[in-house]
Amino acid sequence: MKNDIKDILFSEEVIQERIKELGDQINRDYAGKSLLLIGVLKGCFIFLADLARHIELECEIRFLTASSYGFSSVSSGKVNIDGGIDFDVKGKDVIIIEDILDSGITLTALRAFVAKHKPASLKVCTMLDKPERRQLPITADYTGFECPNEFVVGYGLDYAERYRNLPYVASLKPEIYS
Ligand code: IMP
Ligand code: MG
Repeated sequence: MKNDIKDILFSEEVIQERIKELGDQINRDYAGKSLLLIGVLKGCFIFLADLARHIELECEIRFLTASSYGFSSVSSGKVNIDGGIDFDVKGKDVIIIEDILDSGITLTALRAFVAKHKPASLKVCTMLDKPERRQLPITADYTGFECPNEFVVGYGLDYAERYRNLPYVASLKPEIYS
């Protein structure tokens, strides 16, 4: 697996430090409140697991499954939200937790979908943001790192369902996905 890596963009140490800062910021912003965190599967699973352990507020954790990529490294532009929402959102302070904000197509669809269920407030937290790739005008309220315009894997992010278990974020050698 490590032979497929081109460069490590965000090391394990740097990621953990930044996640603690994000958790502290969320603790301050929502002081005295309780939260509903909605993780976007599958990419969020490691980020959310680490971030949640820095959140000291009462917290409900739910998941939605969104997919738009299939086995390619280019977005299909179509977002599937499997199974819909089978939990209460109405009146709650919600943060959607994503792995990466790329074209913005996934988060725009998800945010609209969650907003229809009338949360008290709705914010977005993404570990990585690739602003150069944006096709829809969406910005995250909390961002871990701005990411260069490269396909990246690790720390939850996959290529064809592989590499999610790398503890860092890395780019792949071009021959892997060409
Ligand atoms: P968007 O809809 O184009 O913003 O894409 C969002 C989704 O595409 C993310 O939740 C990821 O699952 C996937 N994605 C986008 N860029 C990358 C990448 O560089 N590596 C792995 N997955 C990515
Ligand atoms: Mg994702």
